[in-house]
Amino acid sequence: MVYLDHAATTPMLPEAVQAMTAQLTVTGNASSLHAAGRRSRRTVEEARESLAAALGARPSEIVFTAGGTEADNLAVKGLYWSRRDADPARTRVLASPVEHHAVLDAVEWLATHEGARVEWLPVDSYGRVHPDVLREAVVRNPADVALATVMWANNEIGTLQPVTELAAVAREFGIPLHADAVQAVGQTEVDFAASGLAAMTVSGHKIGGPYGIGALLLGREWAPVPVLHGGGQERQVRSGTLDTPAIVAFAAAARHAVAHREEFAREIGGLRDDLIKAVRAAAPDAVLGGDPDPAGRLPANAHFSFPGCEGDSLLLLLDARGIACSTGSACTAGVAQPSHVVLATGTPPELARGTLRFSLGHTSTAEDVAVLAEAIGPVVERARQAGLS
Ligand SMILES: Cc1ncc(COP(=O)(O)O)c(C=O)c1O
Repeated sequence: MVYLDHAATTPMLPEAVQAMTAQLTVTGNASSLHAAGRRSRRTVEEARESLAAALGARPSEIVFTAGGTEADNLAVKGLYWSRRDADPARTRVLASPVEHHAVLDAVEWLATHEGARVEWLPVDSYGRVHPDVLREAVVRNPADVALATVMWANNEIGTLQPVTELAAVAREFGIPLHADAVQAVGQTEVDFAASGLAAMTVSGHKIGGPYGIGALLLGREWAPVPVLHGGGQERQVRSGTLDTPAIVAFAAAARHAVAHREEFAREIGGLRDDLIKAVRAAAPDAVLGGDPDPAGRLPANAHFSFPGCEGDSLLLLLDARGIACSTGSACTAGVAQPSHVVLATGTPPELARGTLRFSLGHTSTAEDVAVLAEAIGPVVERARQAGLS
């Protein structure tokens, strides 16, 4: 199989598997006071320290969650509630329209159920929010903004956002900015302290760690209202028994991903450039999504729209040839919908129906790209015929 869907999930790294396996047979709830509990607590705290060091954060800024989705929900809902509780006028939420559904739907839920007034920040044709756009939205009335949320790197088109500049604008007005950095870690430099963000989401299974573990990095001055109530773990912000084996493996993966980031960007970025060339040679009318400048996009991402094709047809035809990729778009009640991300960049809906995302990762090889290069021309031809019939 040729696996070109690492942005959906990437294989666990050997060091993460080893770290997790070693912990699976160790008993002890990290909240228990006896020796077994204290041992588990020590293991968790060591992992917390190493995760924090890898991400430029303080250990006390890490709130472990059951993945990126939960961390996004905690940031968006929790910060909204705490800011509105402190001042009922703060009900405006500023969000980019290219967010992952974990942010997008949390924001929309706040609008439907909690009286939030959502303002979608316009993006350019690469899906980027310019700091001036954020400033303009904030200055209209800084006092009514609960929070802003703009992802660090887009999971579909790979565009990087000017997170540090955006955070500087938000900080100037005392507004918390959250960034979903799930796709950014290990591919671009992510330093929580240097970014100036209030909160940042990371996830284990996108960087070679296990599924079901993630974290919200949270500046000490912010205290979101919890989404989950219970034992009061993690600064009273996220209750639930800590998953020691997953936490240890997540930290091991993060250490590896961050330590090898530059080499990854060079090698995988090179393969990605070859992939783009191959697709363009086979389908000259394919439109590259996101920023064409490699400095402005994730090194492992390539996104295309194929005129006259349905993304699902392309995906299934490639799947039949043993190649796994993604359309990036959602399916509602069995009907394929163009991606909200691609539409937000101004791509016409007809073209936005024919998208494919190829995402590379630590197991990708030149052979994978060669197999795709062979297949993509005939597949596009078949899909186009199916689209016309
Ligand atoms: C940008 C982004 N945010 C959040 C998530 C959700 O993370 P998780 O799968 O850990 O819940 C994903 C996963 O697809 C993602 O790509």
